[in-house]
Amino acid sequence: MSKFIIERSSPLSGEVYIDGAKNSALPIIAACLLCAGGDIFIDNVPYLSDISVMCRIISTIGAKISRLNEGKGIRIGCENIRPVEMPYELVKKIRASFLIAGPLLARFKKVRIQLPGGCAIGVRPIDLHLKGFSLLGASVKQEHGVVEISCKKLKGNEIHLDFPSVGATENIMMAAVLAQGKTVISNCAVEPEIVDLADFLNKMGCKIEGAGSDSIKITGVEILSGCRHRIIPDRIEAGTFLAAAAATRGEIKINNVCCSHLRAVSSKLKELNAEITEGENHIKINAKNIYKNADIKTMPYPGFPTDMQPQFMSVLTTIAGTGIINETVFENRFMHVGELNRMGADIRLEGRCAVVRGASRMTGTQVKATDLRAGAGLIIAGLCAEGKSEISDIYHIERGYYKIEEKLKKLGASIKKVEE
Ligand code: UD1
Repeated sequence: MSKFIIERSSPLSGEVYIDGAKNSALPIIAACLLCAGGDIFIDNVPYLSDISVMCRIISTIGAKISRLNEGKGIRIGCENIRPVEMPYELVKKIRASFLIAGPLLARFKKVRIQLPGGCAIGVRPIDLHLKGFSLLGASVKQEHGVVEISCKKLKGNEIHLDFPSVGATENIMMAAVLAQGKTVISNCAVEPEIVDLADFLNKMGCKIEGAGSDSIKITGVEILSGCRHRIIPDRIEAGTFLAAAAATRGEIKINNVCCSHLRAVSSKLKELNAEITEGENHIKINAKNIYKNADIKTMPYPGFPTDMQPQFMSVLTTIAGTGIINETVFENRFMHVGELNRMGADIRLEGRCAVVRGASRMTGTQVKATDLRAGAGLIIAGLCAEGKSEISDIYHIERGYYKIEEKLKKLGASIKKVEE
């Protein structure tokens, strides 16, 4: 088991490069299962444990995968796959494993898959995914923790989602691309990762319009072929470095970003009185004069991302006054609060709200990363706390950040990874 040892750091300065988006790469790798017609080349794939798990999942089904370009590129061939049931040990490692259901249903008309279950941030049901599959004409049976989805053929339909779920939008979109006729998914998710998936699917020969709006139209096609695609930059990794610079009152340049994907985060930083400068593929932050507090409400895109909530909680602990964080997306995404309070933060939970009284004296101690973004929040708190912080269970953090300690070190942070 590894851990991070962090000492209070001077303001971050310098430049950092952002990798490809994990949350785009995962559904795009799953979507490769749709393609019986030639190899697919994907570039800017982040080198992360979650991505390796998704690759293992599709190779268990028979996909041929090779890493190119020092691991950042992958070639995937899915001509000879068979829809075998995945071992639970593999499926339970990442919730995104359920994203293979849509493509396998589309291609083989039947899929059996273990239910992904809850995680540290909540119950995380999949009812909206299943509702979509049913409306496309599939029958859904669930027993002994396994869901079986099958159909004679899939037929396009109108599907209205009760909530704009990212995963449900992706899974239904992937199931509908080979269905007969037209599908319209309304109240769908509009995240940049949805647009990236739709762009990728269209390159394979799918007919998808409206991705990025709240209504996606899909006209079923019969044949898909190989293509090349480059994954968009990871807006959450970029946002995490913006938050780290803000918390340490640093000044950094973040390269390989799409600034429009970061607007909710950058406008919140401006509210705190940070200076933000946007370039074509980079964003700069000067956080020397941050002093104002702010309230935050997490929302589906283009609202403030729930995946940035823990990191911003750590930023708010550094600012005098009170900030209220309202978590509306997940029911239980405050596991980091107890750990931050152990470091000396003054955060009170009231239902789905966290009341953060900033500028209390934070001191380093031993804390535990309970999930990916909570872990990122603890790193940021560690950069600001007096003395030494030790973060354990950092495998959660490494699911979504490639060599975060190296990147932070280059920006002047005092952080090292040690093996226990
Ligand atoms: C994706 C992201 C995750 C991010 C989340 C919200 C990936 C791999 N993960 O997760 O990092 O935090 O979007 O931006 O892209 N829900 C239901 N029924 C369903 C599906 C979802 O009730 O069938 C609920 C969930 O419990 C949750 C909310 O909808 O409360 C949002 O979930 P969803 O948008 O589906 O998130 P994921 O796709 O799991």
